[in-house]
Amino acid sequence: KMNKFVDDLIAKMTLEEKIGQLNLAAVGFDVTGPIVSENVDEKIQKGYIGGVFNTFTPSAARKLQQMAVKRTRLGIPLLFGYDVIHGHKTIFPIPLGLASSWDLAAVERSARIAAEEASADGLNWVFSPMVDIARDPRWGRVAEGAGEDTYLGSQIARAMVRGYQGNDLTKENTVMACVKHFALYGGAEAGRDYNTVDMSMNRMFNEYLPPYKAAVDAGAASVMTSFNDINGVPATANRWLMTELLREKWGFKGMVATDYTAINELVPHGLGTEAEVGELALKAGVDMDMVGEVFLNNLQQSVKDGKVSEAEVDAACRRVLEAKYKLGLFQDPYRYTNEKRAKKNIMKPEYLEATRDIARKTMVLLKNDKQTLPLKKTGSIALIGPLATSQRDMIGNWSGAGDWKQAVSVEQGIRNVAGKDIKINYAKGANIADDQQMIERLNAHGGNLEIDSRSSEDMIAEAVKVAQNSDVIVAVVGESQGMTGEASSRADITLPGKQQDLLKALKKTGKPMVIVLMSGRPLALNWEAENADAMLETWFAGTEAGNAIADVLFGDYNPSGKLTMTFPQVVGQVPIYYNHKNTGRPYGGELLDKYKSRYLDVSNEPLFPFGYGLSYTTFSYSRPELSKNTVNPNETLEVRVNVKNTGNYDGEEVVQLYVQDVIASVTRPVKELKGFQKISLKKGESKTVTFTLTAEDLKFYNKDLEYVFEPGEFKVFVGTNSSDVQEASFTLAQ
Ligand code: IFM
Repeated sequence: KMNKFVDDLIAKMTLEEKIGQLNLAAVGFDVTGPIVSENVDEKIQKGYIGGVFNTFTPSAARKLQQMAVKRTRLGIPLLFGYDVIHGHKTIFPIPLGLASSWDLAAVERSARIAAEEASADGLNWVFSPMVDIARDPRWGRVAEGAGEDTYLGSQIARAMVRGYQGNDLTKENTVMACVKHFALYGGAEAGRDYNTVDMSMNRMFNEYLPPYKAAVDAGAASVMTSFNDINGVPATANRWLMTELLREKWGFKGMVATDYTAINELVPHGLGTEAEVGELALKAGVDMDMVGEVFLNNLQQSVKDGKVSEAEVDAACRRVLEAKYKLGLFQDPYRYTNEKRAKKNIMKPEYLEATRDIARKTMVLLKNDKQTLPLKKTGSIALIGPLATSQRDMIGNWSGAGDWKQAVSVEQGIRNVAGKDIKINYAKGANIADDQQMIERLNAHGGNLEIDSRSSEDMIAEAVKVAQNSDVIVAVVGESQGMTGEASSRADITLPGKQQDLLKALKKTGKPMVIVLMSGRPLALNWEAENADAMLETWFAGTEAGNAIADVLFGDYNPSGKLTMTFPQVVGQVPIYYNHKNTGRPYGGELLDKYKSRYLDVSNEPLFPFGYGLSYTTFSYSRPELSKNTVNPNETLEVRVNVKNTGNYDGEEVVQLYVQDVIASVTRPVKELKGFQKISLKKGESKTVTFTLTAEDLKFYNKDLEYVFEPGEFKVFVGTNSSDVQEASFTLAQ
């Protein structure tokens, strides 16, 4: 049916109308690049626009849709896209936080609610999930992804696509997902945004590509190209990537849109004139040109000059029309523009409950000496730090249409959760930044930093006084939301400004010190980890952040999150990730063993490894038991481990399974995550957790890029994080 409909429509279209469908225009605000599409109304009515983004609310979307449907010759409806990254109006924790929950149902639920709200608010296309594997915390966009791991990242990619698209895109409460940024954007050199990626095929196929493929296999209906160069051919002009790999090998049937002005940017990449790069992008497999209007301004001439064929334009146009068909827009172009539905379906109380519940699951307890946490709901708290009263930072940097004024601050959350018997003594203590250039840069792009004009000495002195008069210090420190996300790389990933000086002064008071950390990336926190009594990573936790943080601080929820990106001791260790290769000279920890793969000035160990996170209770693990010592390729291996809650609280634990292929035809990582289960154990309770492995789980891409398993010895590791594991081994028979 769809084919016939689209064939008939294309047969009626002029070349100009077809090219119009390939143009994706930005409307007005939230600009993330240098060009804003101009005269959008006029262009829609001329049939020069196939989709818009940044327009939402039923009335605004209907107005533009009417122009397309009523005033153009063929009445083809528009797509309405938007950066719904971690929620639309009800904001969830940033994606790096969501991943730290290791709770796929929670991740899917966040995407489902985002789709309910977005589709009720005029939108039918979300630019999410971002599935770029990232191992360099200097890169600001690590906040928007699932972290460093391929297996976990792939699971999360699938969960997000399911949440957005459901199993039926034609339903009015589902939206088209857009997997981004295809591909390898997370591999940017030196963690600098938009930078070059030069990567071996081995690494690409085994480590970076699987999450995109997982999202495509889960049915994602669109893909966004990335800005970066890949081994000499920028992604947006990369025919191997978009046509040979994505479409021909992976069988992707959907639509490819570029990132913001990414075709124009092929000019400074050095690929040719604007007309030439437009031709390259179309031939490589791009369907929609985001904002830059290279297709709109050049393709007609390119067809006339015989540089591209009309059939190539048709192919792209067909995929855009198919996307519209799949969304049901030809049946009812106004299906996402129903005010009543918007009123009913946006920021429902149950969505707020969901984001509070999900946010609690994302928090990672990094340290808790002498059971400093949970706090009592009596006595006095010195609530200190530039983020303690912030609402704006709570919803993170890319919070779509979220309203920060509705977000709950930590201060408010503590009042809500701890009640009247607790006394809060507040002092700001430090500004979030003191580097004038950084402050100006952030403020120029919506940073809205509130900078106190007092000297840092005065601010710290005030905070110390407050601490001296309180029972316990809760220091809410970290990054502001604007220090993370797109175009927000940092070369120094310690606490910005004078926040560490503040903590040092507070430490001297001798009061117990709890650090509540907010950040969009792993930070280098050696001093903090050494000197805090307790430390809780809360990311940017969304609309209900303050309540969720307080739930954890006071023990109404026992933390269960685990890191999905390694925290380095110092930035010089970056890139540091758990699933590295072994080297020919692995370092075993001997002080004087010089000729080993090591640093002279810092150990190879991270500050906190991948998969790490504590609980208020403790868990003990038995040794893993295997159902067989030798497994045939067609058999299943069971790995069993007994986990016991040995502490004083009920709690949840993420039981993690890693595998190492000991000898293979290409070098393999020292361990790779191959399974995890989040279980809940009452105080004193124990459970047997069973994982099953098959030969399929042991496959990798060999030097000829064949996806194979190789017989031989494998190690299995099970434990509470990627470092703290117990080991067993088996042989995969021929
Ligand atoms: O979706 C984003 C992308 O992640 C970065 N550049 C801009 C796009 C649209 O806002």
